[in-house]
Amino acid sequence: MLKVEGLSRMFGGVEALAGLDLQVHDGSVLGLIGPNGSGKTTLFNVLTGVYPADSGHIYLRGKDVTNLKPQQIIRHGVARTFQNLRLYSRLTVFDNVWVAQHSLPDVGLRELILARRKPERARREAVSTMLDVTGLADHADQLAGGLPLALQRRLELARALIRSPDLLLLDEPAGGMTPAETADMADLIHHIATPNRTCIVIEHKMELLSSLCQRMCVLNFGRKIAEGNPQQVLDHPDVLEAYLGRSQSSA
Ligand SMILES: Nc1ncnc2c1ncn2[C@@H]1O[C@H](COP(=O)(O)OP(=O)(O)O)[C@@H](O)[C@H]1O
Ligand SMILES: [Mg+2]
Repeated sequence: MLKVEGLSRMFGGVEALAGLDLQVHDGSVLGLIGPNGSGKTTLFNVLTGVYPADSGHIYLRGKDVTNLKPQQIIRHGVARTFQNLRLYSRLTVFDNVWVAQHSLPDVGLRELILARRKPERARREAVSTMLDVTGLADHADQLAGGLPLALQRRLELARALIRSPDLLLLDEPAGGMTPAETADMADLIHHIATPNRTCIVIEHKMELLSSLCQRMCVLNFGRKIAEGNPQQVLDHPDVLEAYLGRSQSSA
C-alpha cells in the first residue's frame, strides 16, 4: 500500500527525516513511535504534501506520489488527523464533519456529475451516521471549540473517516487523554477506523498501540532504529537507549 524510500527533509540544520525507508502492507496497522522531535509528524507532513521532501520517494500502491500537493494526495485516498487539532472551532460538530465531506475532491468528470446528482439528504445521513458511530451524535449542534479534548479528538477522527480513506494517518489520537479516555479511543479506532483499511498510528501510549498494531516502527533522529512486533521493538536495546537519550554517545 505504502512504500517510502530514502525520504529526507531538513529544517534549517535539523534533519527531521534522514533517509527513511518504510513499508506498510495493505490492510495492516503500523504503530510509529520515537522520542519527541524524532520526525514522526514530519513523516505525516511529507506524506500528505504539507512539506516537500528534499530527497527520496513515496509510493502509494506502486504509484510515485512524491511531492504532490495536499489535494492530490487526498485524491489518492489518504486522510489524516493532527496532533495539534485542526477543527473549525466556531462551527458545530455536525458542520465540521459536513465540511470535511464536501471538500472531498471529485475525481474526473463522471464522478463530478454523479456527485452533483447525489441528493444532499444522502450526505446529511452520512454525516449523522458518522456522528453516531463516533459517539458524537448528542453533541451534533455544539460548537467544536467548546468540546472537551477527548471529544475534539473523536471529531478529528470523524472528519478523516468521512472521506473513506484507504490510508489513514493518526497523529497521537489519544494525546492529552486520561487512561479511561485512551481506552475508549483505542476501542473506537479498533472498531471503526482500522477494519479494511491501512493505518499508521503515531502514539506514545503503548496500551493503545499494542492493542491495535501488528507491527511497530521506531524513529530516532529521522531514522528507523527498530521494527517488528510490539514486544520485539520494546525489547530492542537501541529503543531503550533512544528513550533514555544516550543514542548519540553510545558506540
Ligand atoms: N515546520 C518546521 N520548521 C522547523 N522545524 C521543524 C518543523 N517541523 C518539524 N521541525 C523539526 O523537525 C524535527 C522533527 O519534528 P517532528 O516531526 O514534529 O517530531 P515528532 O513528531 O517525532 O515529535 C524537530 O527537531 C522539529 O523541531
Ligand atoms: Mg509529532
